[in-house]
Amino acid sequence: MHVFVTGGTGTIGSAVTAELLAHGHTVLALARTDSAADALRSAGAEPLRGSLADLDVLRAGAAQTTGVVHLAFSRDYSSAAAVSAGVAEETAALELLGAELTGSDRPLVTVSGTPWVPGRASTEADPLPVDGPVGGRGRTVTAVLGLAARGVRTAAVRMPRTVHHHGRGGFAGLLTDAARRTGTAGYPGDGTQRWPAVHALDAATLFRLALESAPAGTSWHAVADEGDAVRDIAAVVGRRLGLPVGPVPEETFGPFGAIFAMDQPSSSAHTRRALGWEPRHPGLLADLEELRP
Ligand SMILES: NC(=O)c1ccc[n+]([C@@H]2O[C@H](COP(=O)([O-])OP(=O)(O)OC[C@H]3O[C@@H](n4cnc5c(N)ncnc54)[C@H](OP(=O)(O)O)[C@@H]3O)[C@@H](O)[C@H]2O)c1
Repeated sequence: MHVFVTGGTGTIGSAVTAELLAHGHTVLALARTDSAADALRSAGAEPLRGSLADLDVLRAGAAQTTGVVHLAFSRDYSSAAAVSAGVAEETAALELLGAELTGSDRPLVTVSGTPWVPGRASTEADPLPVDGPVGGRGRTVTAVLGLAARGVRTAAVRMPRTVHHHGRGGFAGLLTDAARRTGTAGYPGDGTQRWPAVHALDAATLFRLALESAPAGTSWHAVADEGDAVRDIAAVVGRRLGLPVGPVPEETFGPFGAIFAMDQPSSSAHTRRALGWEPRHPGLLADLEELRP
């Protein structure tokens, strides 16, 4: 397939680009800077200059390829307004890509997050949350999946709280950042709450499988660790950084505090069975051993 990738320079997107190229696909990747274009060229992809807000560029990218993987998202979480702007930008981009692919039966694979369900691990059959600060992303992905009825082979690959590579990334990465900043490898609550995780290289394999064969309108869980207790994550972070480990107030983590306090395990049993996906790379606790003070 000739695949249009957005976010191809990100933690997940760079792994997806490499995975696609290693499996005989070619990649046209959105690049908003010269350095992103250089990085994509070195990885073996063809850059297409433009940002997620350049709808004409997105249209051109989708028009000249046979499938789309969307991963770009603004990294600006500094305020509620910044997050809403990122959600609005992504929504407009996905609406455009969906419209461009309507009636083509071409795949449009987008990224999402695993939902949380009180008292049990969430599954692929659980709906995405559509309320709260990033509820707009859930509404957009749900609308994208609905394009299955209009001739787009849509799929959503849902990410766990931490997508890691070399011990960095995701919620565990934010916990590490807070530990470096405050001098304590802290966690909110009693630390028994669990977060699911996946290695970026395993997530990339699932994106490829979904692109190649997922039926229209389906959701998949890129979950390798169903749930690591947050105090176990903090224990490795503290040991690797030489810092004390213990409970800290939720406010230490700013707007993420309340979410960090939640138990949110997630299952990928259906994904493994239906798509034959099997994670092969280190789990989160092993990968965190790569952290350096
Ligand atoms: N990592 C995780 O633990 C995790 C967990 C759950 C969900 N996710 C989701 O998975 C997706 C990818 O995550 P990631 O960790 O790979 O992200 P990342 O490392 O922050 O990379 C973001 C990517 O999006 C691109 N991008 C951002 N804004 C853009 C814009 N306006 N125009 C064009 N490109 C833009 C960036 O390009 P530049 O190189 O130019 O900056 C980069 O390629 C995101 O939707 C994220 O929310 C990630």
